[in-house]
Amino acid sequence: MSLKPNHRLPLMAMGMFSLLMALFGGVQRLGWELPTLTLVLPANHGSLMVGAFLGTVIGLERAVALGRRWGFLGPLSTGLGGLLLITGVAPSLAQLLIVIGSLMLCLLFVAFLRRQFAWFTVIMLVGALSWLAGNLLWLTGSSIFVVVWWWMGFLLLTIAGERMELGRMLFIPKARQQQMSGAVVLSMLGIAVTLFDIDTGVRILGLGMIAIAVWLGLNDIARRTVRQTGLTRFIAVNLLAGYLWLACCGLLLVLFGADFSGLRYDAVLHTFFLGFIFSMIFGHAPVIFPAVLGRGMLYRPAFYIHVVLLHVFLTVRVVGDLTIELLPRNIGGLINALTLLVFVLNTVLAIRAHHVKQKAEAG
Ligand code: HEM
Repeated sequence: MSLKPNHRLPLMAMGMFSLLMALFGGVQRLGWELPTLTLVLPANHGSLMVGAFLGTVIGLERAVALGRRWGFLGPLSTGLGGLLLITGVAPSLAQLLIVIGSLMLCLLFVAFLRRQFAWFTVIMLVGALSWLAGNLLWLTGSSIFVVVWWWMGFLLLTIAGERMELGRMLFIPKARQQQMSGAVVLSMLGIAVTLFDIDTGVRILGLGMIAIAVWLGLNDIARRTVRQTGLTRFIAVNLLAGYLWLACCGLLLVLFGADFSGLRYDAVLHTFFLGFIFSMIFGHAPVIFPAVLGRGMLYRPAFYIHVVLLHVFLTVRVVGDLTIELLPRNIGGLINALTLLVFVLNTVLAIRAHHVKQKAEAG
């Protein structure tokens, strides 16, 4: 038995709260003077984004798909971990809760595999294991710049697996599917090598990212659906733009290798997390939010506002990073944060518009 949509709302709310607080911390880390909400927000920006926001939303979506109550323990755990990370109280407990959340996601994929074996589920399971491994390193005291590649592996494989799952309808030949598996293996190999030689490891990961981006760019159904209209085209535009950012991140990793802080580190991380991951979120949100929350959402062309803002100002930020110009970097980063607020607002308005339309039709 699953959890009723209304009972899923608090879990989603915890994830969204972590997103908002992570944004606040991110803007503070750029150097903008904002009031201090809690002292730890800037330092916890990355872990809040990945573990507490994305971990909770992905865990929730997968738990709904599995349809079993125990599946929701994962997002509950990461959601609570996020609240502790925000307050800065009991940091080790916060980390432990996020470790438990990632373990639950692994178990969830095992349950999917027991139901029906599929390679794309194996890829997503390996992604969840990458998240678990990264979280264990983090719990045992490794720095974020050591852990972050494992977190990237989690998101990279989750998306690669999901796109392959949807690609089943396209009947992609086996040989081409094996190319994707090769790119996934290369990425995970790179991540594993970071344990011994971080510079070589991230360069191999970069090659894997480029290979996955090229594969998705050539084989994804989005290449066809981008010629349609409305929501279908909107989703495809986001996916294709995301693949471009993934290739950019891969290229930066191959060229620069490992950085531990500073402008190049900022460019590498945010081409991936904002350019790639948020393009995927923007594209999937009109489908996933209704499925998770049990509330419809009306597609509106206004969604393109947050899409255009994201790409324009992320470009400004990354160009600032790479040319060592702090002003464009800081303005781009600030508008990136505001863009995510526009996205949240657009989403809430679209849910409301759907509700109003339904009431009007019923009346
Ligand atoms: C939208 C506005 C955002 C702003 C203003 C922002 C800002 C920053 C800044 C200034 C840094 C430090 C970079 C350095 O060391 O020079 C950083 C690091 C980081 N960011 Fe963001 N970020 C944003 C979005 C995101 C998103 C969406 C994610 C993930 C989904 C993310 C994940 C990370 C991670 C993992 C780190 C590394 C943290 C560390 O090493 O402690 N950021 N961010």
